[in-house]
Amino acid sequence: MNGVINLVEPMVFGHSGRSLNVADCGVAPIMMSIEHIRRQFQGSHKTNVVIEDVNLTVRKGEFVTLVGPSGCGKTTLLLCLAGLMPLSGGRIQFRGETILSPPAGLSVVFQDYSRSLFPWKRNRDNVLFGMRRLKNLSKSEKYDIASDLLAAVGLADFANHYPWQVSGGMQQRVAIARALAARSEVLLLDEPFASLDAQTRADMHELVLDLFKKYDQTCILVTHDIEEAIYLSTRLCVLSHRPSRIELDVPVDVPLPRDPLLSKEHPRFLELRHQVLEMIKRAPENRQVPPS
Ligand SMILES: Nc1ncnc2c1ncn2[C@@H]1O[C@H](COP(=O)(O)OP(=O)(O)OP(=O)(O)O)[C@@H](O)[C@H]1O
Ligand SMILES: [Mg+2]
Repeated sequence: MNGVINLVEPMVFGHSGRSLNVADCGVAPIMMSIEHIRRQFQGSHKTNVVIEDVNLTVRKGEFVTLVGPSGCGKTTLLLCLAGLMPLSGGRIQFRGETILSPPAGLSVVFQDYSRSLFPWKRNRDNVLFGMRRLKNLSKSEKYDIASDLLAAVGLADFANHYPWQVSGGMQQRVAIARALAARSEVLLLDEPFASLDAQTRADMHELVLDLFKKYDQTCILVTHDIEEAIYLSTRLCVLSHRPSRIELDVPVDVPLPRDPLLSKEHPRFLELRHQVLEMIKRAPENRQVPPS
């Protein structure tokens, strides 16, 4: 398995319930399968291989977090998963269909959130845009949901502002609200809490976990914050330096539901934190592939 330390047994392990073995209840359906994917960029003199051979199967109800050094290809990977960037090799399937363009049922919070909001739309209209595919809700229901979500991210007083009239952290919260509004089966989050202060970040964690449970979602999160990764997820993957591979794939078996204070003091939490930090520290710097 290409040296990957894979400790994930097939099981149902969602925030919505206790972890269960396959023998107990069957395996949750596969939402995304990433098979031997490769992504490279052609420079004028050499090829930059960013993703070398990444394999990952994500089942319904999993909250998978990807951590890895800056520049290792996390955003590239998420863009490929979202159908926004073509692969150089391999295959990604969403609910059994190969992804060739952005599929319905999948929402993204982009790392570059400021460029992902429509500057000509007010914040509430940006959130409403996230609900454009929800056919079973009336216009007024959508309006109320958008207002409620903006209130939940602390922006009730800024619903009628334009994104460029609010701070970077506030724009990031609008982008989070827009992705959550879509109630998609799969959420892809690229460092969604990076510009937030500690308290707002903690509030966003609880909001994301609440809606994740409520809408029975599957989530793939990228973060640099190891504590955030362990607190939120049911499974954690560590990526290597470029060219990126999955070096560790481990279930986050800290008891559910999580508590913002107690979970972080749980022995298993501390053990995982230690293991991941050690692994990141040991990761060989910029493994080179010969130019092709
Ligand atoms: N469109 C592109 N054209 C050429 N090279 C690109 C392109 N997009 C990404 N890269 C290269 O891919 C590599 C990985 O970039 P990426 O943004 O995926 O890293 P990352 O892991 O998300 O980093 P960070 O943690 O800093 O956000 C970098 O070397 C970058 O230069
Ligand atoms: Mg990135």
